[in-house]
Amino acid sequence: MNQASSTLVIGSTGMLGRAVVQELATRGLPFTAVGRERLDLRDHACLAQVPATFTHIINCAGYTDVDQAEQNEELATQINGTAIAALAKRCLATGAVLVHFSSDYVFNGLETTPYRTEHRREPINAYGRSKAIGEEALESSGAKFLCVRTSWLYAPWGKNFALTMMHLLSKKTALRVVNDQRGRPTSCSHLARVTLNLLDSDATGIFHATDSGECTWFGFAEEIKRQLGHHCRVESCSSAEHIRPAKRPGYSVLDLSKTEEITGKLPNWKENLRAVLNCASAATNRS
Ligand SMILES: NC(=O)c1ccc[n+]([C@@H]2O[C@H](COP(=O)([O-])OP(=O)(O)OC[C@H]3O[C@@H](n4cnc5c(N)ncnc54)[C@H](OP(=O)(O)O)[C@@H]3O)[C@@H](O)[C@H]2O)c1
Repeated sequence: MNQASSTLVIGSTGMLGRAVVQELATRGLPFTAVGRERLDLRDHACLAQVPATFTHIINCAGYTDVDQAEQNEELATQINGTAIAALAKRCLATGAVLVHFSSDYVFNGLETTPYRTEHRREPINAYGRSKAIGEEALESSGAKFLCVRTSWLYAPWGKNFALTMMHLLSKKTALRVVNDQRGRPTSCSHLARVTLNLLDSDATGIFHATDSGECTWFGFAEEIKRQLGHHCRVESCSSAEHIRPAKRPGYSVLDLSKTEEITGKLPNWKENLRAVLNCASAATNRS
């Protein structure tokens, strides 16, 4: 990407969308950012008219409520699946590169070593199925695409585990957090940087991009507590004690080797957590 490129960011008001917009601005790259009110992924006529002047389309929008997707699978599939096929069709016609984000939840969670990019998709919940349909649409589209699978996103803004924990740790004396789901927390700002670095190296196809290292949600909460110096007791519990509408994969660590061949070693999640917590604390102190 360079000054001659022109990027459309879809879903720019979401948690990752904000980070991507910030990163494009930091790099001084030309872009147009649109939220749902200007471009609704359910509106295929609108997708078919995306201007041909864009060299890159970065889709940060999605149906992201994993539990609600169990009841709304049709809508989730429309936004995370069918719309991606329509976007890819438009990109094939215009020659734009389509960047799309997918999820660790396309896997079944039964492995014990990190999932490689080519591992078989076998989602265990409706959200994962809708994301898998989006990936398949990209692969069969013929368009030039970069599909970045990621996991456990958080940022100093938006709705996410780290901010929820920050709030709860300061209010409560004890918390229970599940200790039998393992993954890789990922800072949205870091993911935005890695994604643009992949684009700079003309990477296409499916890549994994997360922070490195791994933990459970309990471990994530413990580290947030440690870094913030809170005294709230954090106790571990099992997923069976904390029933949610959607089943979660027990192990969803993504193998990063294909990405790291291009970007170099990705930083550990604890380092990125420090930066995000500092930023979130500064925002809280200002308000
Ligand atoms: N969060 C995670 O842990 C995680 C993990 C793996 C992969 N991902 C993927 O990463 C991407 C970004 O996730 P995120 O966490 O940033 O999500 P988010 O904060 O929930 O943002 C999603 C964005 O999509 C927009 N949107 C929803 N329906 C739309 C529609 N029909 N048309 C246009 N825009 C629509 C939302 O707009 P409104 O604000 O108007 O609703 C919002 O701006 C998604 O593809 C997600 O599947 C996320």
